[in-house]
Amino acid sequence: MKILTVVGARPQFIKLAPVSKELRKNHDEILVDTGQHYDYEMNKIFFEQLNIPKPDYYLGVGSGNHGHQTGEMLKKIEDVLLNEKPDLLIVYGDTNSTLAGALAASKLHIKVAHIEAGLRSFDRRMPEELNRITTDHLSDLLFVPTKTGVDNLKVEGVSKGVYLTGDVMYDAVLNNLEIAENKIGVSKLFDDLGLKNHECKQYMLATIHRAENTNDKEKLTNIFEAMMESNENIVLPLHPRTEKYLKEYGLYDKVQKSNITIIKPVGYLEMLLLEKYAKKILTDSGGVQKEAYFVDVPCITLRENTEWIETLEDGYNVLVGSNKDEILKNIKEFEINKNSKTNRFGDGNASKVIAEIISRY
Ligand code: UD1
Ligand code: UDP
Repeated sequence: MKILTVVGARPQFIKLAPVSKELRKNHDEILVDTGQHYDYEMNKIFFEQLNIPKPDYYLGVGSGNHGHQTGEMLKKIEDVLLNEKPDLLIVYGDTNSTLAGALAASKLHIKVAHIEAGLRSFDRRMPEELNRITTDHLSDLLFVPTKTGVDNLKVEGVSKGVYLTGDVMYDAVLNNLEIAENKIGVSKLFDDLGLKNHECKQYMLATIHRAENTNDKEKLTNIFEAMMESNENIVLPLHPRTEKYLKEYGLYDKVQKSNITIIKPVGYLEMLLLEKYAKKILTDSGGVQKEAYFVDVPCITLRENTEWIETLEDGYNVLVGSNKDEILKNIKEFEINKNSKTNRFGDGNASKVIAEIISRY
Protein backbone atom coordinates (compact mmCIF):
# COMPACT_ATOMS: atom_id res chain seq x y z
CA MET A 1 0.00 0.00 0.00
CA LYS A 2 1.15 3.54 -0.67
CA ILE A 3 0.85 5.53 2.54
CA LEU A 4 1.34 9.26 2.88
CA THR A 5 2.06 10.52 6.40
CA VAL A 6 1.72 14.16 7.42
CA VAL A 7 3.55 15.46 10.50
CA GLY A 8 4.92 18.88 11.45
CA ALA A 9 5.09 19.49 15.21
CA ARG A 10 7.46 18.12 17.87
CA PRO A 11 5.19 15.49 19.46
CA GLN A 12 4.30 14.14 16.02
CA PHE A 13 7.89 13.27 15.18
CA ILE A 14 8.04 11.25 18.41
CA LYS A 15 4.75 9.43 17.71
CA LEU A 16 5.74 8.82 14.09
CA ALA A 17 9.03 7.08 14.86
CA PRO A 18 7.77 3.69 16.13
CA VAL A 19 4.82 3.52 13.71
CA SER A 20 6.84 4.42 10.65
CA LYS A 21 9.36 1.70 11.49
CA GLU A 22 6.60 -0.91 11.51
CA LEU A 23 4.80 0.40 8.43
CA ARG A 24 7.91 0.47 6.28
CA LYS A 25 8.35 -3.30 6.72
CA ASN A 26 5.42 -3.89 4.34
CA HIS A 27 4.42 -0.60 2.76
CA ASP A 28 5.76 2.42 0.91
CA GLU A 29 5.60 5.50 3.09
CA ILE A 30 5.87 9.04 1.70
CA LEU A 31 6.70 11.40 4.55
CA VAL A 32 5.47 15.01 4.50
CA ASP A 33 6.73 17.54 7.06
CA THR A 34 4.59 20.67 7.04
CA GLY A 35 7.33 22.67 8.79
CA GLN A 36 4.95 23.85 11.54
CA HIS A 37 7.95 23.42 13.86
CA TYR A 38 11.21 24.35 12.19
CA ASP A 39 13.93 25.21 14.75
CA TYR A 40 16.62 22.53 14.96
CA GLU A 41 15.64 21.56 18.52
CA MET A 42 11.91 21.46 17.64
CA ASN A 43 12.33 19.40 14.47
CA LYS A 44 15.55 17.96 13.05
CA ILE A 45 16.93 16.72 16.37
CA PHE A 46 14.09 14.17 16.52
CA PHE A 47 14.81 12.87 13.02
CA GLU A 48 18.44 12.37 14.04
CA GLN A 49 17.83 10.79 17.45
CA LEU A 50 14.96 8.55 16.39
CA ASN A 51 16.37 7.55 12.98
CA ILE A 52 13.35 8.88 11.13
CA PRO A 53 13.94 8.94 7.36
CA LYS A 54 14.30 12.38 5.79
CA PRO A 55 10.90 13.78 4.72
CA ASP A 56 10.07 13.37 1.03
CA TYR A 57 8.36 16.76 1.13
CA TYR A 58 9.18 19.70 3.40
CA LEU A 59 6.40 22.26 3.03
CA GLY A 60 8.06 25.06 5.02
CA VAL A 61 4.78 26.48 6.28
CA GLY A 62 6.18 27.87 9.53
CA SER A 63 4.30 29.94 12.11
CA GLY A 64 1.18 32.07 11.77
CA ASN A 65 -2.37 32.56 12.96
CA HIS A 66 -4.51 29.45 12.87
CA GLY A 67 -6.35 30.20 9.63
CA HIS A 68 -3.23 31.31 7.84
CA GLN A 69 -1.11 28.38 9.01
CA THR A 70 -3.77 25.72 8.43
CA GLY A 71 -4.73 27.22 5.06
CA GLU A 72 -1.14 27.22 3.80
CA MET A 73 -0.80 23.61 4.86
CA LEU A 74 -4.07 22.64 3.19
CA LYS A 75 -3.00 24.11 -0.16
CA LYS A 76 0.41 22.50 -0.09
CA ILE A 77 -0.73 19.09 1.17
CA GLU A 78 -3.39 19.00 -1.55
CA ASP A 79 -0.70 19.51 -4.20
CA VAL A 80 1.34 16.65 -2.75
CA LEU A 81 -1.70 14.36 -2.61
CA LEU A 82 -2.61 15.10 -6.23
CA ASN A 83 0.95 14.30 -7.20
CA GLU A 84 1.39 11.15 -5.12
CA LYS A 85 -2.13 9.68 -5.17
CA PRO A 86 -1.66 7.58 -2.00
CA ASP A 87 -4.03 4.83 -0.87
CA LEU A 88 -4.08 6.12 2.70
CA LEU A 89 -3.10 9.27 4.60
CA ILE A 90 -1.97 9.06 8.22
CA VAL A 91 -2.06 11.92 10.71
CA TYR A 92 -1.14 12.06 14.41
CA GLY A 93 -2.52 13.88 17.42
CA ASP A 94 -4.25 17.24 17.41
CA THR A 95 -2.19 20.00 15.83
CA ASN A 96 -2.98 22.21 12.86
CA SER A 97 -0.86 19.85 10.74
CA THR A 98 -3.22 17.01 11.77
CA LEU A 99 -6.33 18.90 10.73
CA ALA A 100 -4.87 20.15 7.46
CA GLY A 101 -3.78 16.63 6.45
CA ALA A 102 -7.14 15.06 7.26
CA LEU A 103 -9.13 17.78 5.51
CA ALA A 104 -7.01 17.82 2.36
CA ALA A 105 -7.20 14.03 1.97
CA SER A 106 -10.87 13.57 2.77
CA LYS A 107 -11.88 16.20 0.20
CA LEU A 108 -9.96 14.20 -2.41
CA HIS A 109 -11.67 10.98 -1.23
CA ILE A 110 -8.40 9.58 0.04
CA LYS A 111 -8.85 7.38 3.14
CA VAL A 112 -7.66 8.94 6.40
CA ALA A 113 -6.16 7.19 9.43
CA HIS A 114 -5.91 9.13 12.69
CA ILE A 115 -3.43 7.96 15.31
CA GLU A 116 -4.31 9.15 18.82
CA ALA A 117 -8.01 9.41 17.97
CA GLY A 118 -10.88 9.79 20.42
CA LEU A 119 -9.28 12.04 23.00
CA ARG A 120 -11.33 14.88 24.38
CA SER A 121 -10.73 17.65 26.91
CA PHE A 122 -14.35 18.85 26.44
CA ASP A 123 -12.96 22.36 26.18
CA ARG A 124 -13.68 23.85 22.78
CA ARG A 125 -11.61 26.95 23.55
CA MET A 126 -8.55 24.77 22.98
CA PRO A 127 -7.48 24.75 19.32
CA GLU A 128 -6.38 21.14 19.82
CA GLU A 129 -9.93 20.09 20.79
CA LEU A 130 -11.32 21.53 17.54
CA ASN A 131 -8.59 19.77 15.58
CA ARG A 132 -9.30 16.44 17.30
CA ILE A 133 -13.06 16.50 16.84
CA THR A 134 -12.83 17.50 13.18
CA THR A 135 -10.08 15.02 12.37
CA ASP A 136 -11.91 12.14 14.05
CA HIS A 137 -15.07 12.87 12.11
CA LEU A 138 -13.15 12.95 8.82
CA SER A 139 -11.25 9.71 9.51
CA ASP A 140 -11.90 6.21 8.15
CA LEU A 141 -9.53 4.47 10.56
CA LEU A 142 -9.35 5.71 14.14
CA PHE A 143 -6.55 4.31 16.27
CA VAL A 144 -7.42 5.04 19.87
CA PRO A 145 -4.89 4.80 22.71
CA THR A 146 -7.30 4.23 25.63
CA LYS A 147 -10.76 2.83 26.31
CA THR A 148 -11.82 6.34 27.35
CA GLY A 149 -11.21 7.45 23.77
CA VAL A 150 -13.39 4.66 22.36
CA ASP A 151 -16.19 5.70 24.72
CA ASN A 152 -15.82 9.37 23.73
CA LEU A 153 -16.20 8.45 20.07
CA LYS A 154 -19.25 6.29 20.77
CA VAL A 155 -20.97 9.27 22.39
CA GLU A 156 -20.35 11.24 19.17
CA GLY A 157 -21.77 8.39 17.08
CA VAL A 158 -18.41 7.22 15.75
CA SER A 159 -17.82 3.47 16.00
CA LYS A 160 -16.97 2.34 12.45
CA GLY A 161 -13.23 1.96 11.87
CA VAL A 162 -12.44 2.48 15.57
CA TYR A 163 -9.61 0.35 17.01
CA LEU A 164 -8.31 0.34 20.58
CA THR A 165 -4.58 -0.10 20.03
CA GLY A 166 -2.75 1.26 23.07
CA ASP A 167 -0.60 4.37 23.01
CA VAL A 168 2.27 4.78 20.53
CA MET A 169 3.92 7.20 22.99
CA TYR A 170 4.27 4.30 25.42
CA ASP A 171 5.99 2.33 22.63
CA ALA A 172 8.33 5.27 22.10
CA VAL A 173 9.27 5.45 25.80
CA LEU A 174 9.94 1.71 25.99
CA ASN A 175 12.00 1.83 22.79
CA ASN A 176 14.15 4.75 23.89
CA LEU A 177 14.65 4.91 27.64
CA GLU A 178 17.40 2.33 27.68
CA ILE A 179 19.03 3.93 24.64
CA ALA A 180 18.97 7.26 26.48
CA GLU A 181 20.61 5.70 29.55
CA ASN A 182 23.30 3.99 27.47
CA LYS A 183 23.98 6.72 24.93
CA ILE A 184 23.86 9.69 27.28
CA GLY A 185 23.36 8.73 30.92
CA VAL A 186 22.27 11.07 33.63
CA SER A 187 25.61 12.53 34.76
CA LYS A 188 26.68 13.37 31.19
CA LEU A 189 23.23 14.86 30.66
CA PHE A 190 23.65 17.25 33.58
CA ASP A 191 27.13 18.18 32.28
CA ASP A 192 25.95 18.66 28.69
CA LEU A 193 23.02 20.84 29.73
CA GLY A 194 25.14 22.92 32.11
CA LEU A 195 23.06 21.76 35.06
CA LYS A 196 25.77 22.10 37.67
CA ASN A 197 24.74 21.07 41.21
CA HIS A 198 21.84 19.01 39.89
CA GLU A 199 21.24 15.61 41.42
CA CYS A 200 18.81 12.82 40.61
CA LYS A 201 15.43 13.31 42.28
CA GLN A 202 16.53 16.67 43.70
CA TYR A 203 15.08 18.88 40.95
CA MET A 204 11.71 19.41 39.31
CA LEU A 205 11.14 19.50 35.56
CA ALA A 206 8.75 22.02 34.00
CA THR A 207 7.39 22.45 30.46
CA ILE A 208 4.87 25.14 29.50
CA HIS A 209 3.60 26.02 26.05
CA ARG A 210 -0.19 25.71 25.96
CA ALA A 211 -1.78 28.78 24.33
CA GLU A 212 -4.33 29.13 27.15
CA ASN A 213 -1.40 29.77 29.53
CA THR A 214 1.08 31.66 27.37
CA ASN A 215 -1.44 34.04 25.79
CA ASP A 216 -2.85 35.14 29.16
CA LYS A 217 -0.47 37.42 31.07
CA GLU A 218 -2.15 36.81 34.42
CA LYS A 219 -2.10 33.03 34.09
CA LEU A 220 1.51 32.87 32.91
CA THR A 221 2.58 35.25 35.67
CA ASN A 222 0.80 33.16 38.33
CA ILE A 223 2.47 29.98 37.11
CA PHE A 224 5.94 31.50 37.11
CA GLU A 225 5.47 33.29 40.43
CA ALA A 226 4.40 30.00 42.03
CA MET A 227 7.43 28.20 40.63
CA MET A 228 9.76 30.98 41.78
CA GLU A 229 8.22 31.17 45.27
CA SER A 230 8.58 27.41 45.68
CA ASN A 231 12.37 27.81 45.80
CA GLU A 232 12.68 24.35 44.29
CA ASN A 233 15.44 23.67 41.81
CA ILE A 234 13.38 23.76 38.58
CA VAL A 235 14.68 22.87 35.11
CA LEU A 236 12.70 24.46 32.26
CA PRO A 237 13.37 23.41 28.64
CA LEU A 238 11.72 26.48 27.19
CA HIS A 239 9.31 26.22 24.25
CA PRO A 240 9.84 29.13 21.79
CA ARG A 241 6.21 30.24 22.18
CA THR A 242 6.68 30.66 25.93
CA GLU A 243 10.03 32.41 25.53
CA LYS A 244 8.33 34.94 23.26
CA TYR A 245 5.56 35.67 25.77
CA LEU A 246 7.84 35.77 28.84
CA LYS A 247 9.83 38.46 27.05
CA GLU A 248 6.69 40.31 25.94
CA TYR A 249 5.33 40.35 29.51
CA GLY A 250 8.69 41.51 30.92
CA LEU A 251 9.12 38.32 32.97
CA TYR A 252 12.05 36.68 31.23
CA ASP A 253 14.92 38.40 33.07
CA LYS A 254 13.36 37.81 36.47
CA VAL A 255 12.86 34.11 35.71
CA GLN A 256 16.41 33.81 34.44
CA LYS A 257 17.80 35.10 37.74
CA SER A 258 15.58 32.80 39.82
CA ASN A 259 15.58 29.19 41.02
CA ILE A 260 14.37 28.22 37.52
CA THR A 261 17.11 27.11 35.13
CA ILE A 262 16.06 27.93 31.58
CA ILE A 263 17.49 25.64 28.92
CA LYS A 264 16.74 25.27 25.21
CA PRO A 265 14.18 22.61 24.23
CA VAL A 266 16.00 19.29 24.45
CA GLY A 267 16.03 16.15 22.29
CA TYR A 268 13.75 13.24 23.13
CA LEU A 269 16.49 11.13 24.73
CA GLU A 270 17.54 13.99 27.00
CA MET A 271 13.90 14.66 27.83
CA LEU A 272 13.26 11.07 28.88
CA LEU A 273 16.19 11.24 31.29
CA LEU A 274 15.16 14.64 32.64
CA GLU A 275 11.70 13.19 33.28
CA LYS A 276 12.87 9.95 34.83
CA TYR A 277 15.22 11.59 37.31
CA ALA A 278 12.95 14.49 38.28
CA LYS A 279 11.40 14.64 41.73
CA LYS A 280 8.20 16.06 40.25
CA ILE A 281 7.04 17.33 36.87
CA LEU A 282 5.06 20.51 36.24
CA THR A 283 3.55 20.70 32.77
CA ASP A 284 0.71 21.74 30.49
CA SER A 285 1.86 19.32 27.77
CA GLY A 286 -0.28 16.34 26.83
CA GLY A 287 2.61 14.02 26.09
CA VAL A 288 4.63 14.95 29.15
CA GLN A 289 1.71 14.10 31.48
CA LYS A 290 1.76 10.56 30.12
CA GLU A 291 5.52 10.23 30.19
CA ALA A 292 5.51 11.28 33.87
CA TYR A 293 3.10 8.39 34.42
CA PHE A 294 5.25 5.95 32.44
CA VAL A 295 8.38 6.80 34.46
CA ASP A 296 6.56 6.98 37.83
CA VAL A 297 7.04 10.67 38.57
CA PRO A 298 4.27 12.78 40.19
CA CYS A 299 2.79 15.20 37.64
CA ILE A 300 1.30 18.60 38.45
CA THR A 301 -0.70 19.69 35.41
CA LEU A 302 -1.01 23.41 34.77
CA ARG A 303 -4.40 23.06 33.09
CA GLU A 304 -8.06 22.97 34.10
CA ASN A 305 -8.71 19.71 32.25
CA THR A 306 -6.89 16.81 30.62
CA GLU A 307 -7.53 14.21 27.94
CA TRP A 308 -5.48 11.71 29.92
CA ILE A 309 -7.94 11.04 32.72
CA GLU A 310 -6.35 7.64 33.51
CA THR A 311 -3.37 9.50 34.98
CA LEU A 312 -5.74 11.41 37.28
CA GLU A 313 -7.74 8.33 38.23
CA ASP A 314 -4.57 6.49 39.21
CA GLY A 315 -3.48 9.38 41.43
CA TYR A 316 -0.40 10.10 39.28
CA ASN A 317 -1.51 13.52 38.10
CA VAL A 318 -3.25 16.52 39.62
CA LEU A 319 -4.92 19.43 37.79
CA VAL A 320 -4.00 22.81 39.24
CA GLY A 321 -4.67 25.23 36.36
CA SER A 322 -2.84 28.51 36.93
CA ASN A 323 -3.89 28.84 40.58
CA LYS A 324 -0.80 29.97 42.48
CA ASP A 325 -1.78 28.49 45.86
CA GLU A 326 -2.73 25.16 44.31
CA ILE A 327 0.56 25.01 42.40
CA LEU A 328 2.58 25.79 45.52
CA LYS A 329 0.61 23.33 47.67
CA ASN A 330 1.10 20.50 45.18
CA ILE A 331 4.76 21.28 44.61
CA LYS A 332 5.16 20.68 48.35
CA GLU A 333 2.69 17.89 48.97
CA PHE A 334 1.66 15.91 45.88
CA GLU A 335 2.92 12.33 45.91
CA ILE A 336 2.00 9.15 44.01
CA ASN A 337 1.41 5.59 45.06
CA LYS A 338 2.86 3.11 42.57
CA ASN A 339 0.42 0.41 43.74
CA SER A 340 -2.47 2.36 42.27
CA LYS A 341 -1.10 2.26 38.72
CA THR A 342 -3.49 0.49 36.32
CA ASN A 343 -1.43 0.69 33.10
CA ARG A 344 -4.23 1.42 30.67
CA PHE A 345 -2.02 2.65 27.81
CA GLY A 346 -1.43 -0.73 26.17
CA ASP A 347 1.53 -3.07 26.31
CA GLY A 348 4.05 -1.14 24.24
CA ASN A 349 2.99 -2.75 20.94
CA ALA A 350 0.52 -0.17 19.69
CA SER A 351 2.64 0.58 16.61
CA LYS A 352 2.70 -3.10 15.58
CA VAL A 353 -1.05 -3.42 16.12
CA ILE A 354 -1.69 -0.31 14.00
CA ALA A 355 0.56 -1.58 11.19
CA GLU A 356 -1.22 -4.95 11.19
CA ILE A 357 -4.67 -3.35 10.99
CA ILE A 358 -3.51 -1.13 8.13
CA SER A 359 -2.13 -4.15 6.28
CA ARG A 360 -5.52 -5.88 6.53
CA TYR A 361 -7.40 -2.75 5.41
C1 UD1 B 1 1.65 23.33 18.57
C2 UD1 B 1 0.29 22.67 18.64
C3 UD1 B 1 0.07 22.12 20.03
C4 UD1 B 1 1.21 21.21 20.45
C5 UD1 B 1 2.54 21.91 20.26
C6 UD1 B 1 3.66 20.95 20.53
C7 UD1 B 1 -1.46 23.67 17.23
C8 UD1 B 1 -2.67 24.53 17.20
N1 UD1 B 1 -0.78 23.63 18.38
O1 UD1 B 1 1.64 24.42 19.48
O2 UD1 B 1 -1.12 21.36 20.04
O3 UD1 B 1 1.04 20.87 21.78
O4 UD1 B 1 2.65 22.40 18.92
O5 UD1 B 1 4.83 21.59 20.89
O6 UD1 B 1 -1.14 23.05 16.23
N2 UD1 B 1 8.03 28.73 17.22
C9 UD1 B 1 9.36 28.92 16.99
N3 UD1 B 1 10.06 27.90 16.41
C10 UD1 B 1 9.51 26.72 16.06
C11 UD1 B 1 8.13 26.54 16.30
C12 UD1 B 1 7.42 27.56 16.88
O7 UD1 B 1 9.92 29.97 17.29
O8 UD1 B 1 10.20 25.83 15.55
C13 UD1 B 1 7.27 29.82 17.89
C14 UD1 B 1 6.67 30.84 16.94
O9 UD1 B 1 6.72 32.09 17.56
C15 UD1 B 1 5.21 30.37 16.85
C16 UD1 B 1 4.96 29.81 18.24
O10 UD1 B 1 6.20 29.24 18.64
O11 UD1 B 1 4.34 31.39 16.53
C17 UD1 B 1 3.87 28.77 18.30
O12 UD1 B 1 4.10 27.71 17.37
P1 UD1 B 1 2.84 26.85 16.79
O13 UD1 B 1 3.34 25.70 16.02
O14 UD1 B 1 1.88 27.76 16.14
O15 UD1 B 1 2.11 26.36 18.08
P2 UD1 B 1 2.69 25.60 19.35
O16 UD1 B 1 2.44 26.45 20.55
O17 UD1 B 1 4.05 25.11 19.11
N1 UDP C 1 9.80 16.95 24.49
C1 UDP C 1 11.13 16.93 24.10
N2 UDP C 1 11.93 18.00 24.43
C2 UDP C 1 11.46 19.06 25.13
C3 UDP C 1 10.10 19.07 25.52
C4 UDP C 1 9.29 18.00 25.17
O1 UDP C 1 11.59 15.97 23.49
O2 UDP C 1 12.23 19.99 25.39
C5 UDP C 1 8.95 15.81 24.13
C6 UDP C 1 8.27 15.15 25.30
O3 UDP C 1 9.12 14.20 25.88
C7 UDP C 1 7.04 14.54 24.64
C8 UDP C 1 6.71 15.53 23.56
O4 UDP C 1 7.89 16.29 23.33
O5 UDP C 1 7.36 13.30 24.05
C9 UDP C 1 5.60 16.41 23.98
O6 UDP C 1 5.47 17.46 23.10
P1 UDP C 1 4.85 18.86 23.48
O7 UDP C 1 4.84 19.04 24.94
O8 UDP C 1 5.53 19.87 22.67
O9 UDP C 1 3.37 18.75 22.89
P2 UDP C 1 2.01 18.09 23.40
O10 UDP C 1 2.27 16.70 23.84
O11 UDP C 1 1.49 18.95 24.49
O12 UDP C 1 1.13 18.18 22.21
